[in-house]
Amino acid sequence: MIVCHDIHKHFGGFRAIDGVSLKIPEGAITGLLGPNGAGKSTLFNVIAGVHKPTSGKVTLAGEDITGLPPHALFARGVLRTFQIAHEFSSMSVLENLMMVPGGQSGETLWNTWFHRSRIAREEEELRARAEDVLDFLTLTHVRDERAGNLSGGQKKLVELGRTMMVDARVVFLDEVGAGVNRTLLATIGDAIVRLNRERGYTFCVIEHDMDFIARLCDSVIVMAEGRVLAEGAPADIMQNEQVIEAYLGTGLKNKVIHGEAAAMGGAASA
Ligand SMILES: Nc1ncnc2c1ncn2[C@@H]1O[C@H](COP(=O)(O)OP(=O)(O)OP(=O)(O)O)[C@@H](O)[C@H]1O
Ligand SMILES: [Mg+2]
Repeated sequence: MIVCHDIHKHFGGFRAIDGVSLKIPEGAITGLLGPNGAGKSTLFNVIAGVHKPTSGKVTLAGEDITGLPPHALFARGVLRTFQIAHEFSSMSVLENLMMVPGGQSGETLWNTWFHRSRIAREEEELRARAEDVLDFLTLTHVRDERAGNLSGGQKKLVELGRTMMVDARVVFLDEVGAGVNRTLLATIGDAIVRLNRERGYTFCVIEHDMDFIARLCDSVIVMAEGRVLAEGAPADIMQNEQVIEAYLGTGLKNKVIHGEAAAMGGAASA
């Protein structure tokens, strides 16, 4: 449903994205892999409206969305997670979730004055939705905790939770599992799968953890040096010589030799 047509993003003379064309299919979980500096986050930023591409086009269900600012994409259900900003860290977890949806009636003075009951009702709905999200993500026990006091992994769950406060269609997750312990990573993975299966969210996830990618993703796109190097099922990608050589390097090669990559591939097809 999201298609990138020959995207270039140059910073001065440096080609961070150097002609990327790819499709992020609707209803799937697509992984974006590649070594550090491959251009993955830059591509996310181009799709999510943070950067304008130097050239090329991004479409959503056929509609040109190139260069639309994040709030315009948000209105179309295209979301990218961001770390909890400093100014929100002193607010509670519940309040952080309740902050998300825009366009509430309470925002104008006129509305505040004339529609108090409607505002109260909307706030109740918002609160109920936030409670549901906390329950879904197993965060209810920290609902009144200041967001800044959460562990790194719990913060990641709150970031994911913010995408659940609106009816998202496509969610971009940039290393949502970075620095997260295995248990919490599994919780994050479960939440992504459930959102995909139960609510029809389309995901595109950047992640360096191969097990995580293999378990979650229907297909994988590998980038290197600003270009697409390979695309395919996770199990095939991990066997792809070019990918192993150019990206995964000796680390995975050793794993292949020791048979671990085959185990990952097995997990992907299970
Ligand atoms: N705003 C910017 N100005 C100049 N160069 C940039 C800018 N943003 C990214 N780059 C460069 O573009 C290249 C791609 O960066 P990007 O962050 O997209 O990589 P990445 O694939 O996300 O890497 P990682 O896995 O380390 O997060 C890097 O060489 C980076 O230094
Ligand atoms: Mg990155």
